[in-house]
This record gives sequence, C-alpha cells and structure tokens, in this order.
Amino acid sequence: MKLSKFFLITICPLVLLVACSPDTKKIDASKKQGGDINIWPKIVSEVKTDPAIEQQVDALLAQLTLEQKVAQMIQPEIRDITPADMRRYGFGSYLNGGGAFPNNNKHSTPADWINLAEEMYQASVDDSQDGVAIPTMWGTDAVHGHNNVIGATLFPHNIGLGAMNNPALMEKIAQITATEVMVTGIDWVFAPTVATVRDDRWGRTYEGYSEDPTIVKSYATAVVRGLQGHAKAGFLADNRVISTVKHFVGDGGTHQGVDQGDNQSSEIELFNIHAQGYVGGLTAGAQSVMASFNSWNGKKIHGDHYLLTQVLKERMGFDGFVVGDWNGHGQIKGCTNSNCPQAINAGLDVFMVPTDAWKPLMENTIEQVNNGEISMSRIDDAVRRILRVKYRAGLFNKPSPANRQLSGKTELIGHSAHRAVARQAVRESMVLLKNKGQLLPLSPSLNFIVAGDAAHNIGKQSGGWTITWQGTGNTNQDFPGGTSIYQGLAEQIKAAGGQVSLSEDGSYTSKPDVAIVVFGEEPYAEGNGDRDDLSFEQDNKKSLALLKKFKADKIPVVSLFVSGRPLWVNAELNASNAFVAVWLPGSEGGGIADVILRKPNGEIQFDFHGKLSYSWPNDAQQATTNIGDTDYAPLLPYGYGLTYQGDNNESLLLSDNLSETTSQSKSAKTQLTLFTNRVSQPWDLILFSDKKEIKVSSSVHQLSSLVYRTIDKDIQEDAFKILLTGQSLAGVRIQSKSGRAVKLNNNPEQQSALHFSFKLNSKPTSQVNLAIYCTQNGDCNHSHNITDYLNDFSVGQWETFSISLNCFSRDGNDLSNTYIPFEISSLGYLDISLTEIAWLPVDQTKPVIDCN
Ligand code: BGC
Ligand code: BGC
Repeated sequence: MKLSKFFLITICPLVLLVACSPDTKKIDASKKQGGDINIWPKIVSEVKTDPAIEQQVDALLAQLTLEQKVAQMIQPEIRDITPADMRRYGFGSYLNGGGAFPNNNKHSTPADWINLAEEMYQASVDDSQDGVAIPTMWGTDAVHGHNNVIGATLFPHNIGLGAMNNPALMEKIAQITATEVMVTGIDWVFAPTVATVRDDRWGRTYEGYSEDPTIVKSYATAVVRGLQGHAKAGFLADNRVISTVKHFVGDGGTHQGVDQGDNQSSEIELFNIHAQGYVGGLTAGAQSVMASFNSWNGKKIHGDHYLLTQVLKERMGFDGFVVGDWNGHGQIKGCTNSNCPQAINAGLDVFMVPTDAWKPLMENTIEQVNNGEISMSRIDDAVRRILRVKYRAGLFNKPSPANRQLSGKTELIGHSAHRAVARQAVRESMVLLKNKGQLLPLSPSLNFIVAGDAAHNIGKQSGGWTITWQGTGNTNQDFPGGTSIYQGLAEQIKAAGGQVSLSEDGSYTSKPDVAIVVFGEEPYAEGNGDRDDLSFEQDNKKSLALLKKFKADKIPVVSLFVSGRPLWVNAELNASNAFVAVWLPGSEGGGIADVILRKPNGEIQFDFHGKLSYSWPNDAQQATTNIGDTDYAPLLPYGYGLTYQGDNNESLLLSDNLSETTSQSKSAKTQLTLFTNRVSQPWDLILFSDKKEIKVSSSVHQLSSLVYRTIDKDIQEDAFKILLTGQSLAGVRIQSKSGRAVKLNNNPEQQSALHFSFKLNSKPTSQVNLAIYCTQNGDCNHSHNITDYLNDFSVGQWETFSISLNCFSRDGNDLSNTYIPFEISSLGYLDISLTEIAWLPVDQTKPVIDCN
C-alpha cells in the first residue's frame, strides 16, 4: 500500500505524469466502457417542451430552500414514513414496495388506499409551516394490472404478452391498468419493464416481453401511451398515470442471468439489444426512467455519469427524471443507503430510499451541497425535472386524490369489461407446442379429469408481483372475481353437458376420456427466481409422474404449463399428447378454456394466436440461446407456435422421443452458503416448536419451548443461540424462500459435507437430530441422529461439525433438489450456539463424519 503511494508521488513526475494520475485512470476506464456517444440517437419525444410550464417551474424553484429541493428528490416507502413526516419534510414522492399495503393490511380496501393517498397529499400541500405547497406523488408497481390491490384485474405477465405480440391490445391493457390505479388515488406506475432478456436463468425473465428487441420497442411505445395517454390527445389527463420505463439499462443481459449482476455487452450491443425499449418509451413521452440495479462492465448504473447523464439526458434528450431502484444507490462503490453524493452527481434525480435510511440520506445530501460535493446546479436540474413532470401531469391543478375523476369508483377495480380484455390477452398469449393427432381442441361434452397443483390455484397461475412481492402466501380467496384455470374449464364443460372432476393428484374412480394436467413453476420475484439452469426441478418430477400415470392408463394427456420462462421439459413433452405454454396468465383463467375447448356444436371457439417470443431450450444449459445467434439450435425457435387451422410445418412437429438427458451445468455450485453472519439469500431461518413456526425477523424470539437470540462470535451478531426447554419437539431450520432447489454437482453427496460452527452451552439431555428435506411437503426427510457426536465435544467452546452428505442420501434420494438443507431439532433440553452453516466440498485434511 505505502509503497505504491510512494511510487505515485515521487517517481511519477520524473517519468510520465499523465499516465500515473488517478484522473487519467478514470477516463481510461470510461473509454474502455465505450464512450462512443454516436451510437446513441437523439430521440424526438412526442411530448414537447412547454414554455409556460418551464416558466412555472423556474418561478417555483426560485422560492425553494435547499431542504425543500432535496426533499423533492427523496422517495421513502409507506412502511417507513407517516403523514406527519410528509407534512414536516414534503417529500417529492413516495412508494409502496411489492407487498406493502396501507396499514400493513393485505386486505386493505380501495377506500383504505385512497385514504392514505389523500392524507399524504394533504400533508404535502400543507404550507402552514414552510410556505410551499407542492403535491407529492405516489408510485406503485402495477406491473400486470394493479397487482398490489385485492380484487384488481390481473393481466398475464409480460412474457405471455410478448407471445401475443399485439401492440394495440397492449395499449388497452395499460390504459385499464391506469384506470384501476387511479381509482385508488395513485399517480404513478413503475412500468413498463423493457428488459430484453438474453439469459432465461434470470429471475425476472417473465417481466420481459421478449429476447428480441423488436417487440420490446413497440410494446414500450404502446404501454407508455396506454398509461400516460397520447402526447397529442389527453396526455396525463385525469384518467392517466405517469409511467416509468425500467430498468435503465441492460438488466436483461447480466452475466449468467444473475439479478442485479454485471452486463458485459459492448456499447453497440447495449444500444441495439438492451436499449430499444427506451427508444420506444421515450418517443412516446415516458416521464420517468428507473436506473437499474445492474452494472455495465463492472460499474453500477446508479453511479454511471456517462449512461445517466451523457447518454440518456444529454444525447437522447430525456427531459423527465431518473428515479433510482430500491436502495440501488447504496450499491455504488463508496456509497451506503444513507450517503451517496455519487448517484446525484452521476445524474440520479430521485432516490428510492425505503427503510429508515431516508432521513440520514436527506441530511447528508443537504450537507454535501453545502460543502460543495454536490453542486447547486445539479440539484436545481434534478428538481426542475421533477417539477416539470408534476406540472405536465397537472398535479398542481387536479383535485386531491380522493376527489379525482376516477377516485373511489370501486366498481372499476376488476370490472367485467377489464376482465374481458385480460381474458382476451390470455387467449392470445398461450402458445401451442405440441398437438399430437390433433387432440386439441377438445369437445366439452367429454368426461374430463383436471389434475396438477396449478389447476385450481390463482396465486400460482399469477406468479410473482401478485398481492405479495414474491406472489407467495395467497389463496384463491385473495382473488375475488378471479377464475382459476380449472374453474374456467369446468364452467364450459358443465354447460355443454360434459363431466369434469378436479383431482390434484390425478386419482379417479371412473376412467376419464381425457386428462388436463396443469403444473409449473412456483411464484417468485427478482433474484429469488434466479436459477442455475433451465431444468424444471421445482416439483421433484411429481408432475411428470402424473403425466406418465395417465399415459400408462391410456388416457390422452393435455399439459398446461404455467411458467415464467421457457424451461427444459423434454420428458414432460414426451409424456404429453398436447402441450401448451400458458405462461403466467393472471386472474382470468377462463381464457384457457376458450382456446382448448370447442363450442358445444363442435366449432372452434378461438384458434391459437401466441408465438414464442423466447426460444425454447433443447437442453437445461441452453439458457442463452437467442434468435440471431450464429449456432442457433433451440428445441423450438423464436416465433414458433402451432395453430388449429394454419398450415403447421410438419418438420416442426415434436416427436415423442425427445432426448431426456441434458448436459451438466457449467456453473454448478460446489458449495452452498447458508448462514454467515446472518442467513444467506435466498434462504429463511425458521424456528419451530410445538407445531408452531416463525421466520426469524428480529434479534430475539420466543416460541413455546424455544428461545432464540443473536449473539456475537467474531463480530456483532454473527451467530445465534437457541435454547430448547424440552416440552415439545423444537428446533431451527434453514429453508428455501421460494421453493428454490439447491443445485450442487450431479452427486453432491459424493463430495460435500454439511458443515457448521457450534458451541454447546451445556450437554444435550436427549436425542438431537440433524435433517435435510428435499421438498416443501416434508417428504424425503433424511434425518441423522448426532447426539453421540455432539457429546464428544466439550462445553463452552466454538467447534466445527462436518458430516458428509452421504449420511443423508443413503436411501437413494437426490440431494441436488433440496428445500431444507439444514435442520437441527430435539425433543429434550438443548442449549446450543450456531453459525457458519454451509454445504462445502469435503476437505480431506479435516475430520468429517462419513456414512459410507
Ligand atoms: C424492483 C423495481 C421496483 C421497485 C419498487 C425493486 O426491487 O427492482 O422493479 O419498481 O423495487 O418496488
Ligand atoms: C419490496 C419490494 C422490493 C424488494 C427489493 C421488498 O421488500 O417490497 O418492492 O422490490 O424488497 O429488495
């Protein structure tokens, strides 16, 4: 360290000053990133500069104190501020994150949403303390309809809408979304996502329309127009909301599909592939752009002056504001959530700052303007942009949220006309992959069995960003007015005099004519959906077994595959007579019956329309196969989709003998971190006792016969202690947040051990078990009695425990698919401290308990 500084100070002037100066290094780095501004076009927005608005903005800006200006740039979250904070500080905007509701109540009514909007608005325009009245704005993730609100119309997720490729319908969908959002008094929507998804392992694949920028670009235009209105007619009128094109830029192209990861594209690829949605969205006049969590060649976009300022604002001419993503500024090198002049200096205008970081962030920013780290002109530019959008949106003239044109018209939430549009989108988005012997469309007068765990599960068919952030934890009761896929089928079958039974596990008493099996991915959002490859591993081949059972019983099988991405399902395709990718259709499951069932008179109701907007893989490792590749060889190409009546190219019809072996993941992990300092992503730490369980969410918990608390081993709170008092079975486990499968090597048990650090606070008094479970349902529980081993260790000292995974896989079960990779429990008294829990490759030099 010291040496290099010495070198810089003393040798440099003698040798070559320029090459050594730190500034030059910076310029070199930006050159390496491209810096070829000519790649980016000037965008001519349909929304023109309005001199009258510019005058109003300048006049208002001139009245504001520094504190008031910075407050315009701060966007806290509803869980972290009160209307009193809004009155005191006058934030420019606020948001509700996924799964955040007024009063923390998932079942908040539209009236509760309006009340909060009204309270926050009134607090923001209360000028009694500071003499200024600037209406605040509320932003929300209405990403497939107004998806945080119970009873709203839920449209198919973007991946399905991409397959539909119908920009006119997209505009209608966006307009309906704006309407339902306006009913709840909200001003601003964080959509559309215009990621062009190039690696389907990414957990946000379903938020993208396509792997090809063409659809992304045309949809961006359509959605921005649908949300905001056309620039020339009714722009941001009373029935419209502000839109956000997100996430700028390159989110769909990160290395290995890692969420928030690094996009390593060249600058020309960044523009041609990843930025086309901004060309479409900015042309239509999108008023905000959200900066992306990801980096471009190692640099976080939130801190990238070249991309945010030189490219987006100066070159492309964007005159709205740039909003950050969820504490995304805190990820810039040298920043924290509460301190980040770098982001403002790079061109960020609004900090999305959930958690209690908003207050120190505001104070630090003010100080940084005062001490010159941030220039006043940069602050003025940011606030000018925010105010410009507020004037354009008419926020200074519109009535308060509770009194706007659509406010409180609760009949519009989930209105039948809206649902009809969503149902049309469901019909148009389904893609027919296989239809052997023209099994589809089916006569509704047959005897049907409808099986599979997605058949009657509106939550599962709707995916992530559905009421809750991850889309988990919902039941059919949470979707009043919604229709499951089974309900849609049953309605038409019964009306036509057919018979139908719902049987999730596929059991039946009288043999049906045909089986419809609905199965697929469990909901997930963002990084929790990242996968190591495209194998369909989540259900432990349960659905495949179901398909094979029907096949063995000589019952023709129709598979309806619910998923947020194309997956390698050759085995499931082989076992199905017909196979339909239905994506994540949302609340209107009836659209599926409209296409796969005939009318009672035998006529086709609706033909298939959807075409793959993502290539379908021929191997679990084919995650980055995209249209235009030189060695393009997917199972089914981009644009594929069979129809009933069109001339389906015979050469594209799938055989029943697709290869069911796949190549090994190159990126298979050799280790799995479960707990270091705290529980690792994407895992939860769960305490259980006496049949109750809770997720650890604070430093102390008490649950029946269990007491939990965090303790310090090497640094603050890097370990925890559990005390089991012995009245009932109790313990602690690490569990997948989202049903995510653990993917190790082919045979993890051959090479790896479950490892943890522990300290016995006293000797155990009865049997202690260590267990691993492969599924959510608790089947294939591999439990191992470790009492004797523990008793060999002395009390009061940190020790290491390593046990080969072969101790848990002796019955031949596959540990590469694991839901609970660690559980320790006892019926008796146990006082133990734990940390550093992981699956690690066996180190031959260290002692390990081996069961071979
Ligand atoms: C997501 C954004 C979203 C924001 C607010 C972030 O985690 O990346 O897409 O708009 O949260 O909920
Ligand atoms: C929020 C989401 C957000 C995510 C980011 C969640 O708690 O509800 O909106 O996108 O955190 O980490």
